[in-house]
Amino acid sequence: MTSGIHQGPTSYGDDGFSRFVRSVFLASAGYDDTDTERPIIGVGHSISDFTPCHREMPDLLEAVKRGVAQAGGVPMTFPTMSLGEVFLDPTSMMFRNLLALEVEELVRAQPMDAVVLLGGCDKTVPGQLMGAISAGRPCVEVVAGPMIASRWQGERVGACTDCRRLWAGHRAGDVSEADIEAATGVLAPTGGTCMVMGTASTMAIVAEVLGLALPGSATAPASSGDRLRVGTRTGRRIVEMAGEGLSPQRILTKSSFLNAGVVLGAVGGSTNAVVHLLALAGRAGVELSLAELGEAAASVPVVVDCRPIGQGFLDDLHDAGGVPALLAELASCLNLEAATALGCTLGDALEGVDGSPPWPSALRRFDHPVSAEPSLVALFGSLAPDGAVLKAGAATPRLLSHRGPAVVFDGIEDMQERLDRVEATADSVLVLRGCGPAAAGMPEAGAIPIPRKLAAAGVTDMVRISDARMSGTAFGTVVLHVAPEGALGPLGLVRDGDIVELDARSGQLDLLVDEADLEQRRREASDDGDSLHGAVSTRWRALQARLITQADQGADIDVQPFT
Ligand code: FES
Repeated sequence: MTSGIHQGPTSYGDDGFSRFVRSVFLASAGYDDTDTERPIIGVGHSISDFTPCHREMPDLLEAVKRGVAQAGGVPMTFPTMSLGEVFLDPTSMMFRNLLALEVEELVRAQPMDAVVLLGGCDKTVPGQLMGAISAGRPCVEVVAGPMIASRWQGERVGACTDCRRLWAGHRAGDVSEADIEAATGVLAPTGGTCMVMGTASTMAIVAEVLGLALPGSATAPASSGDRLRVGTRTGRRIVEMAGEGLSPQRILTKSSFLNAGVVLGAVGGSTNAVVHLLALAGRAGVELSLAELGEAAASVPVVVDCRPIGQGFLDDLHDAGGVPALLAELASCLNLEAATALGCTLGDALEGVDGSPPWPSALRRFDHPVSAEPSLVALFGSLAPDGAVLKAGAATPRLLSHRGPAVVFDGIEDMQERLDRVEATADSVLVLRGCGPAAAGMPEAGAIPIPRKLAAAGVTDMVRISDARMSGTAFGTVVLHVAPEGALGPLGLVRDGDIVELDARSGQLDLLVDEADLEQRRREASDDGDSLHGAVSTRWRALQARLITQADQGADIDVQPFT
């Protein structure tokens, strides 16, 4: 295959002319033959004013370019979609697959020998990686890096676990309007991604474990010199990878994904990573089920003390040695033959790396964990035949085994309108549907607020069940990603007062209603016609709604190239 700047000529029906005119425009940008004979490294970035957590990225981009040039490559930058988590309506997840399509096409269509992708905010990393895997060129992700934790009223705080905690307190009447206003300027004090173990942090760690980012790269704070050195190191390494032809297909195996599952459990990671890992595995052609991923995550205790399950922040994990130290601590539970972005095995990459440090740190010893209970479990049962997930480590222990009457909401609007008026007790099970991949693109609405009356009476958690997702920074006994989603499965048949049973320890989630009753409800529902898609307002949303898979398949679009 031709490599370098003249690969993939633009199709004018005359390849000689295509090369000539490409050279004309390269010359206009100041490139000469010395440049164009070198490996071309695409550097895709997601800088955007709508993604404030990427605000340090321009410096990181320069660091990557410097590394590429030092190693004899030519860096050529290009923008990718930037999915700023809190600026997208209705949810960034609506656009993850669009970003993946964009990256796949840009990496294939533009003449590059390898690519570095700069992401960070929640969906940018999985979206970029899904596209890069499908493109099949050597690729490395460089994440923006986390914010540094802040302080407020004498406490360490950070986005966005404490945003949620303070807002829940405000709803319950315990946190004043003035305090909410004051906290606004404090909770996200620097550039960088949310510094708790939310989705951005989890996916940064997962990318490193999968071998799609350099060892030691996930946790360096966005504003640190360390982060810039990660960029330079990555720039140097990607030039070597271009020469080695080390594509994601040569790195990713079932073992890589099971290792990522183990680490997901050990860090108390975001439930969103489950959907993303299933999608990434699908892109890599690796067969991976939700049950296997859940089993891997549940096989280890939580060893990282980070909010929302623990108390610390990402910079604490970085101080403790970051992901390499974490992997060394977990070595007995990992497949050390898995490949890394360095081109060696994980075992070789961990040679000489120590596990938990001897001083008190955010990285605990395997035999003295933060929590011996699994942080994340996959659930199956009559309410979720194809599965659901629960961040058990962030749940209230006594609710992990619970039976209660359902209070059902049909969509977010209905929930917002009626939540504070419904007849519910602390034992009720709040059920939200109409938020699945096809119906709504899976917004992060699964952490249904506690009805105001109950919150004011001191209720801080209830069992909540939905086909939505929740932020990795959130907490509570919240069952998510129910598959099939409401309009396609039993979740859609639940009625107020039905008894729902959750037994997280045995991985069960059941609707205790006779099959005959359910059959009758199914008939009535089908008489009502197609309730899967509400109004779909744009072409992309309509296209995705038709093609998207369920959460247990990664909620990717189900369309295969044909030859
Ligand atoms: Fe971007 Fe939290 S808002 S990582």
